[in-house]
Amino acid sequence: MATPSGRALPTRREFVATTAAAGLVLLGGRRRSRLADSRIEVLLDEPIGTVAPELYGHFVEHLGGVVYDGVWVGEGSKVANVGGVRRALVDALRAIHPSVVRWPGGCFADSYDWRDGVGPRARRPRRTNFWADDAAFRGLGLVPAKYDPNEFGTTEFLRFCRLAGAQPYLAVNVRSLAARAFVEWLEYCNSPAGSTTGAELRAAAGDREPFGVRYWGIGNEAWGCGGNFRPEEYAAEYRRFVTWAVPRYGVDLAFIGSGPNGGDVEWTRRFFEALAERRSLDRLWGWALHHYSSADDAGADAVAFDERGWYDLLASADRMESLITAHWQVMRQADREHRVKLAVDEWGAWHRTAPLVDPSHLFESQSTMRDAVVAGLTLDTFNRHADKVAMANVAQLVNCIHSLFFAHGDQFVVTPSYHVFAMYASHQGARAVRTVWAAPRVSWTGKQGTAQELWGLAGSASLRDRRLSLTVTNPALAAPREAEIVVRGGAIASVRATTLAARSVHDVNSFEHPNVVTPAAADVATRGSPLVYSFAPASVTKLEITLEARD
Ligand code: AHR
Repeated sequence: MATPSGRALPTRREFVATTAAAGLVLLGGRRRSRLADSRIEVLLDEPIGTVAPELYGHFVEHLGGVVYDGVWVGEGSKVANVGGVRRALVDALRAIHPSVVRWPGGCFADSYDWRDGVGPRARRPRRTNFWADDAAFRGLGLVPAKYDPNEFGTTEFLRFCRLAGAQPYLAVNVRSLAARAFVEWLEYCNSPAGSTTGAELRAAAGDREPFGVRYWGIGNEAWGCGGNFRPEEYAAEYRRFVTWAVPRYGVDLAFIGSGPNGGDVEWTRRFFEALAERRSLDRLWGWALHHYSSADDAGADAVAFDERGWYDLLASADRMESLITAHWQVMRQADREHRVKLAVDEWGAWHRTAPLVDPSHLFESQSTMRDAVVAGLTLDTFNRHADKVAMANVAQLVNCIHSLFFAHGDQFVVTPSYHVFAMYASHQGARAVRTVWAAPRVSWTGKQGTAQELWGLAGSASLRDRRLSLTVTNPALAAPREAEIVVRGGAIASVRATTLAARSVHDVNSFEHPNVVTPAAADVATRGSPLVYSFAPASVTKLEITLEARD
C-alpha cells in the first residue's frame, strides 16, 4: 500500500477498519462508573470570550507543492477545477468553515511583487521563487516550485477565498518593496469600481467590485527572512507602511505586525515600546506569533516515530499555552488595555523527515494521529485563550508542513488533522467558557534519560445557545481515561460523541486508502449525574452536549 508519501506500510493495515475500532472504545465508555480516574468541570458562568472564527484559519504560501499542484491546477486542467482552483479542495474546505486564509507567504512574501501576478496570465513574468535554492530541489528541472509562473496571483487567490467561504489575509512585502507598492496593492484590491488604475486592472480581470480585503500582514518573520531587522528597525518600517497615508475605502483595515520567533519576548517588548513611543500602537490590530512543534531524534520522522517521539512532539506543541501567556504579559506593558491581540499566523508540527508525494513538494509531511492530537490540543489552547488570540493559521494548507490535504494530479485525500478541524468547527463564534481538568499525568523518558511529564487530559468548551461543545485530547498512548464530566450552571439533556482515533498511531490516509483514520460518532447514554465518559487512548473527542432549557 502506498501512502501519499509513497511509503509502504504493513499490509495488515489494509484490512483494519479503524473507524469501527474507535467506535468500540466509544461504546465502552457510555456507562457511569465508580472507576473514573479523571474529572472535567465546565463552568458555564465563567465566560472567557467569543471564539473568533479566525482562530480556525489557514495558510497558503508559494512553497513547494502548496500552490501549484495543491491549490491551483489551471483552467485547462483535466483535474476538476473551478476557474483553475482544485474543486475537491474547495468542497472539502467549505465543509470546515475555513474563516481566513493567509497568502502569499511566509518567507516568500518578502520577495514577492504582487504586480507580477495580475493582468493577463499569458503575459505574466516567471520569477525565481524564494525557496528555489533549497537543497531538496537539487536535480529538479524548471518546475513551478522553483520558477513561479505567476498564474496564481491576487485575483486568483481572492477568488479562491470567495469560493471557500474564507476571508483573505495578505502578507505585504516589507523587505524588498517600498511602502508605495503596498498602497497600490490595497488600491487594486479595495478601491471603488472605476476609481483608480488598480480598480480598472481588477475589473479587466473580471472583478469590477472591490474585494474589501481587511487583514494585512506587514512583513513576515522580520527578525529573519523578512529583513533580519532589530525590533526597533522593524518598528520604524512598520510605521512607514501603516501610518498616515493608507486609504481605507470604507474597510476596517486590520494590520498585523511581524511578531516573535517562539519565546523571544524581547522582540515583543522592544517592538511595542518603539511603537508606543511614537504613539503608533493604534495602527496595530494583531501581533503575529509563530510556533512550530518538533520532536528530535527518534520522533523526527513523520510516521516512523517511537513512544518518545510521540510524547516529545505533543509536549513541544503544548508550549503554545506558555508562549501565548508570556507574550500577552509583555504586550500589556505598552498596551495596558490589551487592544492588540495575538495572531498565531503559523503553527503546526514540522517533522524533519518524511518521504514526499512528489519531489517538488517542499517540507511535505505525512500526517498521523500524532499530528491530529497536536491539532486538537492547539485549537483547544486557542479556545481557552479566546480573549487573547484573534486569529491563527495552521501551516500549511496542502502538500506541506501540517497539512489538512494531500493532492497530486487528480488525486486528493484529507488527513487526520482535517477531521479535527471539522470536529472543532462548532467552536467558531461560540462563547468559550472556563474548564477545570484533573487527570493522571502521562510520563515518559525523554532525551538522555530525562523524566518527562504532560497533563493527562486537556481541552476546551464553548457554548452557543443551549449547545455546549466540549473537545478533549487524550495524549496517553495506551491508557483510556474515564472522566466524570460536570457542567456547572446547566443540566445535560443529551450527548453525542465524535471520536478520532486509529488502530495504530502510525496509520495514515493515503490516496489508495483515504478512510483509514476517520472519526466515528455515537449518541451517549446520559442517565444519572455526573456524566461519565471514557476517552480512548491517543484520541481527539468532541462531546456535543445539549443542555436543558433554563427557567
Ligand atoms: O511555513 C514555512 C516557513 O516557515 C515560512 O515561510 C516562514 O514564515 C517560516 O519560517
